Amino acid sequence: MGISTRQFDAVVVGAGGSGLRAALQLAEANLRVAVLSKVFPTRSHTVAAQGGVSASLGNEEPDNWHWHMYDTVKGSDYLGDQDAIEFMCRKANEAVIELEHYGMPFDRLDNGKIYQRPFGGHTSNYGERAVKRACAAADRTGHAMLHTLYQRNVRAKTQFFVEWMALDLIRNQAGDVLGVVAMEMETGEVTILHAKATLLATGGAGRIYAASTNAFINTGDGLGMAARAGIPLEDMEFWQFHPTGVAGAGVLITEGVRGEGGFLLNKNGERFMERYAPTVKDLASRDVVSRAMATEIKEGRGAGKDSDHILLKLDHLGADVIDKRLPGIREIAIKFANVDPAKDPIPVVPTCHYMMGGIPTNMHGQVLAGHNGGAIVKGLYAAGECACVSVHGANRLGTNSLLDLLVFGKASGEQVVKDLASDALAYQDLPKDAADLSLSRLARLDSAKSGEDVAEVGAEMRRTMQLHCGVFRFPDGLAEGVRRMQEVGKRAGSLYVKDKSKVFNTARVEALELENLVEVAMSTMVSANARQESRGAHDRSDFPDRNDAQWMKHTFWYKENDRLEYRPVNLKPLTVESFEPKARVY
Ligand code: FUM
Repeated sequence: MGISTRQFDAVVVGAGGSGLRAALQLAEANLRVAVLSKVFPTRSHTVAAQGGVSASLGNEEPDNWHWHMYDTVKGSDYLGDQDAIEFMCRKANEAVIELEHYGMPFDRLDNGKIYQRPFGGHTSNYGERAVKRACAAADRTGHAMLHTLYQRNVRAKTQFFVEWMALDLIRNQAGDVLGVVAMEMETGEVTILHAKATLLATGGAGRIYAASTNAFINTGDGLGMAARAGIPLEDMEFWQFHPTGVAGAGVLITEGVRGEGGFLLNKNGERFMERYAPTVKDLASRDVVSRAMATEIKEGRGAGKDSDHILLKLDHLGADVIDKRLPGIREIAIKFANVDPAKDPIPVVPTCHYMMGGIPTNMHGQVLAGHNGGAIVKGLYAAGECACVSVHGANRLGTNSLLDLLVFGKASGEQVVKDLASDALAYQDLPKDAADLSLSRLARLDSAKSGEDVAEVGAEMRRTMQLHCGVFRFPDGLAEGVRRMQEVGKRAGSLYVKDKSKVFNTARVEALELENLVEVAMSTMVSANARQESRGAHDRSDFPDRNDAQWMKHTFWYKENDRLEYRPVNLKPLTVESFEPKARVY
């Protein structure tokens, strides 16, 4: 085959929170584990998570996992699978305490316990009032978590491949996954990483939108690899728009600002969330707050000379509280909005933040082969934002993302350890064509003498998604969006990289990333066009209501012919009574 091959017990693609948590489980079990990352591990996007990780520790006031489970089911607009949600909420306290024991520098209460703050959609006693459930390290929780997990992995002797990009999965005739084909970004050299188990932890893909809180590295590489390998993508119509991205810049301003007592104002100085969510106001769940903000702007009550944003006021908290609890926010506001929030409000708009859908998995991180039954893809696992378990359903609650990556990162790591110990997984012979797909993708890019400009095609994709698949969705816009994405897809098939050098060729990497983004954007547009109801983050003008009779089901998009299939939501938890769908008010 002529390309070098290296063998590991397990290959983990991605070094964010879920990848590091899974890798730790593997390395501590003395397995040979390789973690691939496009960036230095502590620069993975988990580092940007700000406000906290949810766990019903009850350090500040009474709380319990059942209330957390209720909030998560309700927050998901009843599309989340209740067995997985119970699993996650029950494991939350253990996951956070474990991190504390690893040395994570959480903020502390006077009694030494972990500091907790309120967050959107987190309530006590089944929706009665906001509860303090987000365990925080100031407004740099993800940063603290990622460094803690990285250090722990170094101690456990996890082997890191830094600035390596995974290109494609290797599947044999039986459909089993035998590793990945990857490229060292510095040299352009291609290597086969042959493994008994392959775990995708590639994070989100928020770069399909023009306005995004996501890092430039969030290009849905795991989803692109899965789609090209014939694995469906689940619930891709559901994208979270975070209410408070800095207007014009997209940088995240944590919901923790509202948790600490900040609130939103329209141009008339009105606290408009009182009208939309009378009980918890600014701490309603994100889809509700983002829609309210977009409505205020649409109806002419936006602030600024173009009436195009909302104001986030927090000066009343005082400089001391801001500096202690929200120091990063003060810095971001000064740098990106030219506003000192200790004096003036921050201009904010709803901004693409999180992908609720992803590669379908069960609670143990095993990737599902399709929409029917529980058949799994042997040798393949996924965890974190790239996976869809599904615990977030149609809308994720803030701070449940860090919890998701801890709980399911560990669970998938445990499953790999178990499968390897039981000999359910072993090295299998590599097929002769193991690297052919990746090599032909690279050869096409390298040999093209002309073609489409990567930046232009990317910009057209982002414009299309922003315009046709945003906070509010319209029937004509969605249909036109599908048509435009099909054109984008065709153009992405003939990308042209002018610079033919392989060494540190970022243009080449951007072309490969765009191919992944296009799979994600296409699956999103097609799935959104098909779902004829409004639920969670998917809001259609022509079907304004949730339709439980017909749409309590997950969407599965298959790349081949843009085929859609469905699977019913699992309303049955593991040990407790179901939360039956009901009207969702905050
Ligand atoms: O607002 C935030 O701090 C974001 C948290 C999250 O997405 O979970």
